[in-house]
Amino acid sequence: MNTLTRILVTTVAIGLAASGVARADGTVEVLHWWTSGGEAKAVGELKNAFENQGGKWIDSPIAGGGGDAAMTALRARVVAGNPPTAVQLKGPGIQEWAAEGALNDVDAVAQAESWDGVLPPVLAGIMKYEGKYVAAPVNIHRVDWFWANPEVLAKAGITEMPKTWDEFNAAADKLMAMGITPLAHGGQPWQDATVFEDVVLGVGGADFYRKALVELDQDALTSDTMVKAFDQLRKMRGYVDANFSGRDWNLATAMVMKGEAAFQIMGDWAKGEFLAAGKVPGKDFLCAPTPGNGFVLNSDSFTFFKVSGEDNLKGQQVLASLIMSPGFQETFNLAKGSIPARTDVALDKFDSCAIRSHEDLVAAVASNSLVPSMAHEMAISRSVRGEFLDLVTNFFNSDMSSADAAKMLADAVKRAQ
Ligand code: GAL
Repeated sequence: MNTLTRILVTTVAIGLAASGVARADGTVEVLHWWTSGGEAKAVGELKNAFENQGGKWIDSPIAGGGGDAAMTALRARVVAGNPPTAVQLKGPGIQEWAAEGALNDVDAVAQAESWDGVLPPVLAGIMKYEGKYVAAPVNIHRVDWFWANPEVLAKAGITEMPKTWDEFNAAADKLMAMGITPLAHGGQPWQDATVFEDVVLGVGGADFYRKALVELDQDALTSDTMVKAFDQLRKMRGYVDANFSGRDWNLATAMVMKGEAAFQIMGDWAKGEFLAAGKVPGKDFLCAPTPGNGFVLNSDSFTFFKVSGEDNLKGQQVLASLIMSPGFQETFNLAKGSIPARTDVALDKFDSCAIRSHEDLVAAVASNSLVPSMAHEMAISRSVRGEFLDLVTNFFNSDMSSADAAKMLADAVKRAQ
């Protein structure tokens, strides 16, 4: 070895040791539900980056927005004693699997790379179990968004994005009168719940949201405010087209793109769809927060299941480090529609919707109006969330009264706790 080579080899070795990674390779089997246009593009960035480091990526996508099908598949794999090495998982689900003893921690990587110093405390807390990092966050998604087609709005003389539910209803009534579908929606329980939680925030505000959807307070669940939220949801039911039932969320986004509907209420993974189709924010589509002056938080993260074998264990460490690298957080989130989980990544390359998301996030933290998404598994256990989804979907697809819905929801939540 000549002197130059020796210096280079030593430098690389020190660099890798400092980042907590022994060697940049390993194998990962990754279970995720990112199969729509924008989602596939984003997860493709992770796959490429992992392979570029010399790793082997085995892709295990389970289609189904919101991840309910993926979670069922995960349970089956674990029961069969054959868990995937890395799994897209979030919120209390991380704690539930960790408590079952199913997860490996990646704390050595996290400590070597000082994750505590670069993650918002609220997110760092979600990623840890008994003080150790068991998950690595890729992003911060916002759930409370309107997406709209500006040409369609212009046709109906709507010049501004709605700031209150009354303004939304007025705009929707105008569109209806012109024979235009106001709201593109996919009738799947998680999508119904997504609209519902945004309505709860808008009708009740952040404190009410927290009481009802996070703390599961019986008084809040049976309150007049909750009845009002169901009243607004009942109105929304009148604004969707006849074929909404079962429709995938990305097909609802496509309706807005094609001008077949005016609005969609969906998290900013919808922006990933617009971008993947070459659409430009502010020109081809508009974004604005739904009412409530809050921020409904959803963050995607990866967990590392208990697997054996040097190659798999190495894969987990390398993937964790890669996910948290600033370069990856930028590339991935530009495709996904979200913003980086790390607070130290510059947003220069991000569009106006992402900048708005970041500004509102900071403001929501300051005013204590940041709330975790119930629909996207950030707030409550899977079983209680299941009760919300069942009730909200039943309500959306029947003529149940708002008062009955609030009462039945409160009872179901009590039973499930
Ligand atoms: C969410 C997830 C997003 C997006 C969406 C639709 O739960 O956090 O990343 O993929 O589901 O599939």
